[in-house]
Amino acid sequence: MKGIILAGGSGSRLYPITNVVCKQLQPIYDKPMIYYPLSLLMLGGIKEILIISTPKDTPSFQSLLGDGSQWGIKLCYKVQEKPDGIPNAFVLGEEFIGNDDVTLILGDNLFYGDMNFFRQSLEKFISRKSSEAGHIFAYYVRDPWRFGVIELDEDQKIISIEEKPKKPRSNMAIPGLYFFDSSVVDKTKNLSASERGEKEIADLINHYFSENKLEATQITRGVAWLDTGTPKSFLDASSYVATIEERQGLKIGCPEEIAYRMKFIDKEKLTNVISSLPTSPYRQYLEEVFLENNHG
Ligand code: TTP
Repeated sequence: MKGIILAGGSGSRLYPITNVVCKQLQPIYDKPMIYYPLSLLMLGGIKEILIISTPKDTPSFQSLLGDGSQWGIKLCYKVQEKPDGIPNAFVLGEEFIGNDDVTLILGDNLFYGDMNFFRQSLEKFISRKSSEAGHIFAYYVRDPWRFGVIELDEDQKIISIEEKPKKPRSNMAIPGLYFFDSSVVDKTKNLSASERGEKEIADLINHYFSENKLEATQITRGVAWLDTGTPKSFLDASSYVATIEERQGLKIGCPEEIAYRMKFIDKEKLTNVISSLPTSPYRQYLEEVFLENNHG
């Protein structure tokens, strides 16, 4: 399984914050936003990750994250010339995906809580029998009309999918986290653009659904899913991370910690990574948690 983080877009709802620096490089409390989706992929054991962003911002992601070797993973980069739709991530990632399955996460989606929903769905997806398949998630929200909406029966079988419906048939939104087999590249190429001139993720999902190749997992209410597209949700996400981190003294979305816990890097490598960090509360955290054997 490979991973793609889509971190381009126009970020217009956050203007003027995004006028110079894109949304996914902005801080969510104490880390750049992209650390959070990257952490989720790492927690799922995904080690080969493609980061897609704008011509202007891609070099900044490269200098922020490098080639990933410091965290025992492999990061590569691709430019999206213009925000012509979420599914185009698969076309840009064609070579990277090859014959593998792929997880796509949107760079402004943040998950926190028990990540078993993610690991179990991944395992199930990887061990499936059919070659062509898609997997999406469902999350209960107050305002489903803002999202793609999914209706599930008691056995989590999909009944319907609608994009930003005026009268939603359920409260279940579809978060920006998807699994697809490698045929997603050709399926995306064959999609036509919508009225607003973009290829739509909803059309791609519906294609899999119409061919009976789509499954969904409901994320339990114990998991937080936040997206950070508006000034208020941006602030909410920061406050949320700050509250949990203050309470527990443990960090959310810290790639060094995850790399070590997932055994992507050993203690010696971690010590080297820590010694390369500037003196900071972030470095102090890693020193306390690991070098003093305080595993929280
Ligand atoms: P959106 O929230 O749809 O759009 P946006 O981030 O550009 O913001 P706004 O609506 O305020 O202008 O995008 C969801 C995520 O997908 C976000 O992380 C940006 C990313 N994205 C791309 O990287 N390329 C694209 O072509 C699109 C449509 C989105």
